[in-house]
Amino acid sequence: GRKSMQDNTLTVSFRADPGPWDGWQKDWEIAAELVGRMTLEEKLSLVSSPMASMPDAPEEAIGSAGCTVGIEHLGIPTWDESDASLGVTNPNDVRHDDVTTAFPSTVALGATFSPELARLQGETVGAQSRAKGFTVQLAGGVNLVREPRGGRVFEYISEDVLLSGVVAGSAVAGIQSQGVASTLKHFALNPQETGRVMVSSDLSEKNLRESDLLAFQIALEHGQPRTIMPGYNMVNKKYASENAFLLSEVLKGDWEFKGFVMSDWGATHSTEHAAWAGLDRQSGRQLDTAHYFGEPLKEAVAAGRVSTARLDEMVTRILAVLSSVGGLDERRRPTSFPAEEHAEIAERIAEQSIVLLKNDGSALPITSATGRVVIVGGHADAGVLAGGGSTTVTPPGWVHDGGVAIAQLPLPRAYHPPAPLDEIRRRLPDSEVVFLDGEVTEVVGQIHADDHVVVFAENWATEGRDLPDLQLEGRQDDLISAVAGAAESTVVVLETSGPVLMPWIDEVDAILAAWYGGSGGGAAIAAVLSGAATPSGRLPLSFPRSEDQLPRVEMTDPGLTTSNPGEPRRGSYLSIDYDIEGADIGYRWFERQGEEALFPFGFGLSYTTFEYTDIVIATAGGGDPSVELTVTNRGDRQGIDTPQVYMAPPRVSDSSSTYRLAGWARVDLDPGESRRVRIRLDEMRICASFDPDDPGWTVHEGDYSIRLARNAADRPVLEQKVRLNGTRLRP
Ligand code: GLC
Repeated sequence: GRKSMQDNTLTVSFRADPGPWDGWQKDWEIAAELVGRMTLEEKLSLVSSPMASMPDAPEEAIGSAGCTVGIEHLGIPTWDESDASLGVTNPNDVRHDDVTTAFPSTVALGATFSPELARLQGETVGAQSRAKGFTVQLAGGVNLVREPRGGRVFEYISEDVLLSGVVAGSAVAGIQSQGVASTLKHFALNPQETGRVMVSSDLSEKNLRESDLLAFQIALEHGQPRTIMPGYNMVNKKYASENAFLLSEVLKGDWEFKGFVMSDWGATHSTEHAAWAGLDRQSGRQLDTAHYFGEPLKEAVAAGRVSTARLDEMVTRILAVLSSVGGLDERRRPTSFPAEEHAEIAERIAEQSIVLLKNDGSALPITSATGRVVIVGGHADAGVLAGGGSTTVTPPGWVHDGGVAIAQLPLPRAYHPPAPLDEIRRRLPDSEVVFLDGEVTEVVGQIHADDHVVVFAENWATEGRDLPDLQLEGRQDDLISAVAGAAESTVVVLETSGPVLMPWIDEVDAILAAWYGGSGGGAAIAAVLSGAATPSGRLPLSFPRSEDQLPRVEMTDPGLTTSNPGEPRRGSYLSIDYDIEGADIGYRWFERQGEEALFPFGFGLSYTTFEYTDIVIATAGGGDPSVELTVTNRGDRQGIDTPQVYMAPPRVSDSSSTYRLAGWARVDLDPGESRRVRIRLDEMRICASFDPDDPGWTVHEGDYSIRLARNAADRPVLEQKVRLNGTRLRP
């Protein structure tokens, strides 16, 4: 969203200026001129890349997910690609002693509801990537969270189209502002990991356009990513990396995408079929069953099965992207970067991502406590948990405790220092703070009746495998219940990928959702626990009461299928029917089913209170509606509030008419301070319907219900019907 101030009214709008990146024509001209001087071999050398975190990496590689050797006589330098959204990774410790910053998970970024913080995280990740000599940062995970047990939920943003698209787009724009091309991934409909190389995500085109594709489209318009990465999965029975509907009809056709499409690592399955479908580059080719865009492509071009024009277009797109971020200027070499400043930014974002879910009797903040403060479990004496997979950042001092291996790469279960225990001691210098860990009875036996206990609960999710359920691992539920039965007050800090079940919810006094907070996580948790910071996060995902509420209750058994590239194929192809919920994901599914979540989308408490007054829901003569209100901080401490607007379209034949997030504002207020805000509901595609037989968006004429609320399930502060004119928008 874009913010502007008029007559001291904070106005937030959500529509971006669609279209390809500014100045793409010039970059294409530069690229086409270079292609005109290339031999066939030279063209082929650019349309595939090897992983560069293995012993057989090109010797000029910096060391990362990918390296492409340049073409000296054409002034095309060697360039390198790195993972990912949460910071610059160092796979296999390929760059020994590498200093890097672990940023909060992108679902934590989603919990800030802040396009500004998303842009800032992108700028900082991009600056670090550029300083290390990279040209492409494989970031921009934006898949809608249809499956809360998905292995990469922490790498995505939300169950909501608008929040996902705006946050992902802002982060990508931030990365690219530093002269590093970003990706958007994994295009499309890749909400699960188990069986990911064998699964077909099935969804009607109408539902696909109105949900997952719209999130990508909004992110594309807000961020203008230079590259797109299809996922490992199939979409409606066709592999995403050779899916002509996705890559040619939608992405390069309807959306006029001018960058290049790179496969995921080991996700290429053919030569001419993929080339004609719209794939421009084979990545991580050691993980594929063949070097499809190598010799086979040379033969296909020689035999005319792939035209020279198509090969030239592939190379033009790649070089235009490099040109657009200054990647043709010189061989990039590692330089220094302000690690301290980056660490502070990571901490600030982590702090604003923490969601206060419960705070009975003001158990929080813990000030100078009467009894001891006892920190229990969750590796709180080591650091905060990080998600597993290609996105795991390994900053100095990181530790690991187990992990998995996928695609021949070890994926550690990593913890990011500083330890929450140390940060809590720093924030509560006058309190006795002790750490307990171990078996339930052992821990509980040491709890005093007047102790203030903070239990750290963790759930490790990783790429390549979904979570089996939403329960906390091991016996953490028992530990929390037992501790709650013994202590004066019990606070639970959740370090999780996304939602978890909470059988102990009525036994504890307070709950914080702290996600995977990254290098700033420990300090952020301590700041909120001690009251140095007021919690301001809002849930980007519904927390269910039970897995029985989900569209698909059973999870696929990872033992019956193959989940990762480079592994022997097991079992047969799978189909997952996402038409069960269709475009009604998360809170929209709960509304449609008449179910109540444990904690709804958009939920979050504060240490202060906010009042909404002078609310006006208006439409400019039947055009874009807006909601104006005055937000006042009625408490005794600073806080950030996020008033939300949900809108339901009129009932139209086969389209859903559930309420969906149409806009929001974030307001940072000191005690007693007021701010007038205007929330423009100008991204009307979230309330429009897409008819595949008549491609384009139809905003139907009729009555739209608009709610101002504090979360998706909240009794609205105000609800009103407005009549809107019908309009038609391009696909
Ligand atoms: C991984 C991931 C992708 C990542 C790539 C490079 O398997 O699916 O997100 O960017 O390969 O590591």
